[in-house]
Amino acid sequence: MTDIAALVAALDLDEKAALTAGADNWSTFAVPRLGIPGIVLTDGPVGARGATADHESLTTSVAILSGTALGATFDPDLVAEMSAIVARQALDKGARVLLAPTVNLHRHPLWGRNFEAFSEDPVLSAKLAVAYIRGVQTQGVAATVKHFVGNEVEHERFTCSTDVDERTLRECYLLPFEHAVRHGHVLCLMTSYNRVNGEHVPDQARLLDEILRTEWGFDGVVMSDWWAMLRTADAARAGLDLEMPGPARSFGAALAAAVRAGAVAEADVDAKVRRLLTLLDDLGLLAGAHAGARTSSAGGEPGDPATATGQAADVPASLSVIPRPTERPQDRPEDRAALRRAAAQSMVLLRNEGLLPLDLAGLRRVALVGPRAEHPAILGGGSAKVRPHYRLSLPEILRARLGAGVEVLVEPGAGDTGRLAAASAARTADVAIVVVGTDEVLESEGYDRTTMDLPDDQDALVRAVAGANARTVVVVTSGAPVTMAWADETAALVQCFFAGQESASAIVDVVVGDAEPAGRLPTTLPLRLEHTPAFGNFPGEASHVRYGEGLLIGYRWYEARQLPVRYPFGHGLSYTTVAIGAPTLSSTRLGPGDRLRVEVPVTNTGARRGAEVVQCYVAPPGGGTARPGARLRPVQELRAFAKVWLDPGASTTVAFELGERSFAYFDAADDDWPELVARRPHEVHPPPPPAAHRSVSGWYVDPGSYELRIGRSSADIAHRAAVEVVGGDAPLDPGMLPD
Ligand code: BGC
Repeated sequence: MTDIAALVAALDLDEKAALTAGADNWSTFAVPRLGIPGIVLTDGPVGARGATADHESLTTSVAILSGTALGATFDPDLVAEMSAIVARQALDKGARVLLAPTVNLHRHPLWGRNFEAFSEDPVLSAKLAVAYIRGVQTQGVAATVKHFVGNEVEHERFTCSTDVDERTLRECYLLPFEHAVRHGHVLCLMTSYNRVNGEHVPDQARLLDEILRTEWGFDGVVMSDWWAMLRTADAARAGLDLEMPGPARSFGAALAAAVRAGAVAEADVDAKVRRLLTLLDDLGLLAGAHAGARTSSAGGEPGDPATATGQAADVPASLSVIPRPTERPQDRPEDRAALRRAAAQSMVLLRNEGLLPLDLAGLRRVALVGPRAEHPAILGGGSAKVRPHYRLSLPEILRARLGAGVEVLVEPGAGDTGRLAAASAARTADVAIVVVGTDEVLESEGYDRTTMDLPDDQDALVRAVAGANARTVVVVTSGAPVTMAWADETAALVQCFFAGQESASAIVDVVVGDAEPAGRLPTTLPLRLEHTPAFGNFPGEASHVRYGEGLLIGYRWYEARQLPVRYPFGHGLSYTTVAIGAPTLSSTRLGPGDRLRVEVPVTNTGARRGAEVVQCYVAPPGGGTARPGARLRPVQELRAFAKVWLDPGASTTVAFELGERSFAYFDAADDDWPELVARRPHEVHPPPPPAAHRSVSGWYVDPGSYELRIGRSSADIAHRAAVEVVGGDAPLDPGMLPD
């Protein structure tokens, strides 16, 4: 065990303050005299980008599935397997901190970074975040859960304020972070660019100190998003540890000056350094550290590493910028195979009128159509974009799979003439495969999409081809929902979220039936943009984004409003049929501190090996609508899920465990209310039930009969079972972990 307190004590104020900011874009300072190394950070989440911001000079990287595609797997173990691949690539590039996962929610389909995030559902996002972190940290790399919190728009992202009530924050947007900290033991967290309720997140003691550190017990490193910090003393007191990138603007020398001016306690700086050193220690990087004698930070000599690197004049000469690591990324054959398998498991078969998997017997000619047919989009843009080791050609893979006896006509179908080139090719073919979608330019960090419609007349192309050949499969490659007004005109429709470097092989695997399309929708596909929950409150006005839909994100909105959707959350077809049997409950009553075990028998009743995602929703008493004296509850909320793979005829039992948090809501409480009532005893009559006005905030469980709904999507519920929940007037123990 390294004596971290002794190391902190061996540093003087200027050295400590300098350590609280990056040394450069991608690393922290080393203190050679104490054997403290610098540490290299890299983006995430689909690969290890490496130590440059300039895309063209990036070394190549593995490109795993983007967030939405990982979300579509509904498979924590697979997500952990994928993120471990990214972590190994980070090690190849000399990095020990990965800036991932992104756990913001799909609040609006046009958010530019939807593709990076897992889902519209907080619980699915939370469980996959924990899995992602596990995969990374088991490789000896620190994960960085980001962006804390309310970072769901790119427009004016440095200034916009996410205006949101605390209940919504707790139940939706904070939940994945809570899991990442309390279950995932994530080592680092990145604050977001935006403000929350008017105040920048790096400056918010409420979020950083009270909720993150005190309530959840986070003792890892809180870093700023790149250039997000503005205020020295506020952020220092709120609990931010590391300003990124360097050279420092708000911390570093400015932090030392703030301590000297009495605006920040030196103990706060010590705590930041202690947390940074603890991170290094957790990663095994302090083996050579020794708390030597305290020397003056001004003691740099000519020829000393600090002086030699020519670092900023206000950085103590005893600190040094570490040399940029040599990056030796490996393109591992085993990664290719794993990515191909995972990509297929993320594909969502939205519709299938019996065309898929293709019957290869008698197949003579295939028309492969669309601007994305040669190279389907595999990732999104911005800091999440890597230079993949390779790009696959879909026609080549299809030809290789179908063999010389099958002709594959490739038609991009661009423009009016191209669309007519495409329709006639489709007419002469046995099957048409249309690949449409967005790409890394349309879906990117830094800006939002302006329309949910496919670009470049691709809708017209789909219609032309589907009209020319009834045996048309459409594959949509996008990171977020697109309008699919033509969906019912297709014989089969596959949603391929940005599925990484093996997307093209996985598309072929799914279409010909070599692989099961085992994905389920992690986000609702709406009929129209105008139906979506945040419509009217996105991208906000005058740098304020009002989360006016509150708790009703995603399917919660469509269900509460009884709005039809194109395809519901959780939906996805299979090439086999799976029967979900009636659940068995360990008890029909849930008392304080109890845990409920729910067992669900599942049988593959079809002729092929296949997958099912068994989903468990909880519906509150009274159907979830807001009544006077009661709180709004969503109609139902996903609380657990499990993916199973079964051979034909095989059965298994899926088990879920639910505790009180699965039935609870957050009450932010209202300190003023008792006084208001005391002053107006006659107007507030009859007195509302105590649960309607609490003065202690926390998680509460209302008593009553709840329904467990077991199904294969939010709209396809196979079984319902009642549970009598005892609940009560007292808040749950804040130490109770979320399920
Ligand atoms: C992004 C972060 C990213 C950082 C470093 C920021 O612009 O918001 O997600 O980790 O840059 O590239």
